[in-house]
Amino acid sequence: MKVFKEQFALNNYLKTKTVDSIGLVPTMGALHFGHLTLVEKAMNENNCVIVSIFVNPTQFDDISDLNAYPKTLEEDLQKLAPYGDKILVYAPDVRDVYPGTATSSNRYTFGLLETTMEGKKRAGHFQGVATIVHKLLAGFNPTRAYFGEKDYQQLCIIHQLVAQEQLPVTIVSCPIIREKDGLAMSSRNRRLNQKERSQAPLVYATLKKSIALKTSSSLEEINHIVTSTFEQNPAFKLDYFCIADARSLQPITTIKPDQTARAFIAVKLGDVRLIDNVNF
Ligand code: PAJ
Repeated sequence: MKVFKEQFALNNYLKTKTVDSIGLVPTMGALHFGHLTLVEKAMNENNCVIVSIFVNPTQFDDISDLNAYPKTLEEDLQKLAPYGDKILVYAPDVRDVYPGTATSSNRYTFGLLETTMEGKKRAGHFQGVATIVHKLLAGFNPTRAYFGEKDYQQLCIIHQLVAQEQLPVTIVSCPIIREKDGLAMSSRNRRLNQKERSQAPLVYATLKKSIALKTSSSLEEINHIVTSTFEQNPAFKLDYFCIADARSLQPITTIKPDQTARAFIAVKLGDVRLIDNVNF
């Protein structure tokens, strides 16, 4: 494993190697097993893998959320080291990504994909995500880039970005990796205290319950049941629950025979915001 703080140094190093395919795994660090499954998939499919570790400031609408985001570079490097020489880590300072004095997003048009759920709740979030992902894709020219369905809306935005900007990369999506009790793995989970951690599985349990209700209840009734589940559990604050078309991400009230639906949820548990989604 080699670690680079600068993009040009990593690219100079790559020029000295014969590399047929590059896999890129963008992360914000605080790596967990979910991230490592992306890394492993990239290792299997490419002969060089770049893992970026960068807490991207432009995708945070809330400065306290940015400040609270865990930064654990040493631990992260220890987790990646066993993967050996095929791994190149890009762990830049902010100025390598955003040169000059302005740390701001580019402007993209993603239409309705951006105005729902996470995009609606977190102003400018996807402009920041698209900006960093675009910089990484253009900067390293990977053959494939790996993203998790954990951030399903992000994945849709990235597909749209790649199509709009005609970027020559294959986007590979990876299923959600969960803890044994169903909680979707997330860097934010480490900020849950013991009590909150024991309550957190309710999020996935509720998603599963919503699927089980599909045959007996309308989508409106399911919405209502999910809302009251969290009203009865005051440790949680439900941000949204939404059953949406899996491609357009627009909320639906019925599922047409040829339609794929997905259920999305965001809750606040204590200070920690958790998101999850399932094929519905
Ligand atoms: P981060 O939250 O660190 O996630 C990095 C990648 O890991 C994302 O593609 C995310 O969907 C995936 N991931 C996280 N938890 C997962 C899980 N439990 N199962 C499967 N995949 C999981 O997402 C970001 O960073 C940033 O927005 C980024 C794309 C790096 C841009 O800054």
